[in-house]
Amino acid sequence: MRTQVGIIGSGPSGLLLARLLQLQGIDTVIVESRSREYVAGRIRAGVIEQGMADLLREARAGERMDREGLIHEGINIAFDGRLERIDFPKHTNGKVVMVYGQTEITHDLMKAHIDEAGGIVYYEASAVRVDDYDTKSPRIIYERNGQQKELVCDFVAGCDGFHGVARRSIPNNKITTFERTYPFGWLGILSDVPPVKDELIYANHERGFALCSMRSHTRSRYYVQCEIDDKVENWTDDAFWEELCRRLPPDAAENVTTGPRLEMSITPLHSFVAEPMRFGRLFLAGDAAHIVPPTGAKGLNLAASDIYYLSRALLAYYKDKRSSPVDKRSTPQSGSVDKRTDLLDRYSETALRRVWKAIRFSWWYTSLLHKFDDDPLSRRLQISELDYLTSSDAGRTMIAENYVGLPYEKFE
Ligand code: APR
Ligand code: PHB
Repeated sequence: MRTQVGIIGSGPSGLLLARLLQLQGIDTVIVESRSREYVAGRIRAGVIEQGMADLLREARAGERMDREGLIHEGINIAFDGRLERIDFPKHTNGKVVMVYGQTEITHDLMKAHIDEAGGIVYYEASAVRVDDYDTKSPRIIYERNGQQKELVCDFVAGCDGFHGVARRSIPNNKITTFERTYPFGWLGILSDVPPVKDELIYANHERGFALCSMRSHTRSRYYVQCEIDDKVENWTDDAFWEELCRRLPPDAAENVTTGPRLEMSITPLHSFVAEPMRFGRLFLAGDAAHIVPPTGAKGLNLAASDIYYLSRALLAYYKDKRSSPVDKRSTPQSGSVDKRTDLLDRYSETALRRVWKAIRFSWWYTSLLHKFDDDPLSRRLQISELDYLTSSDAGRTMIAENYVGLPYEKFE
């Protein structure tokens, strides 16, 4: 089997890339190890930056998001019995975020790419490795129905998440990784109850972090910081709601509507970056190249910015008036540049510049809001930093501009 761009993984990265290339007449085949139902059913986060929302609209998969998504113009930070609001439009020249579940985004992309436009996705087909990525015909070796097969491509996009094979196909001496794990997790509940507030609440509390989020006006998502080795079985619904309310300011706590869990799970917190994000004709994107703790709501949005850059680079190779084989342009530092591939050549450094800023914000925001130890000085430092940040325009602007999403670089 042969295609132009072979994609491993049909999560948000793989589907969004395939859809954007499909709209430009570039062939793709996605190889996905799980079933369509399993991928569609995964519960994940749901805060979307302007950049990702625009990319979903460009992919003609944003119509339901614009109809059902919730525009949020701010977040609230709770600490020391206070609730301080960060006004996004005021501190970012009008920018906002959209609350719309990743599960819904996956549905919309599957409908647009597969059901309506016949995009090819091999489900229950596990890629085992990527061969020949340093040649003009990289191959995805995959297993399906007990048979080993290969997909020959011009390019391979590794959109197979943190545990995927794309990154593992690269020899250790060719890749550098950066990692930090956090000594706690997030216990999350999804419940069909109205959210406590019409905007998210991020709470710093001496008992640990808490987050009040939502999927709609009738479905809420809450998290409390828990021990790293805690188990869902240790928590009844009542115990969860009691602990959540202990960590919120009294006026918020009394507004919490409790209800039975639809889902409860524990998420570990992790920061990870792999460099570079390109190896010959193999390109990594999304969780395959980087992981952020969920505190800053950056995981999904970073996957989107990678796909913004990668889709443009592949487009420039296949489509743009740059189709003349070689259009020499001399640049002082590196002599001649093949315009067909210069964006492909700049993909990794450009994507990583935005990745590291989101890694930094997510680590910093996690450090500010979570309980790391019982040292009273740590606690006072957090409270005073929160007090400073939420009472100064500079502080509020720093939080707002990082939360709504730093701009994508001009990439053409
Ligand atoms: N072969 C085929 N498919 C694979 C393989 C493999 N060997 N390994 C993993 N996959 C599939 C997974 O089943 C999954 O559907 O790759 C997909 C990777 O999807 P995600 O993990 O969702 O990664 P990504 O698309 O980059 O999206 C990142 O999703 O997990 C959230 O917080 C994360 O928001 C971030 C976003
Ligand atoms: C969520 O709605 O699941 C959510 C929102 C914001 C975060 C993390 C998760 O920072």
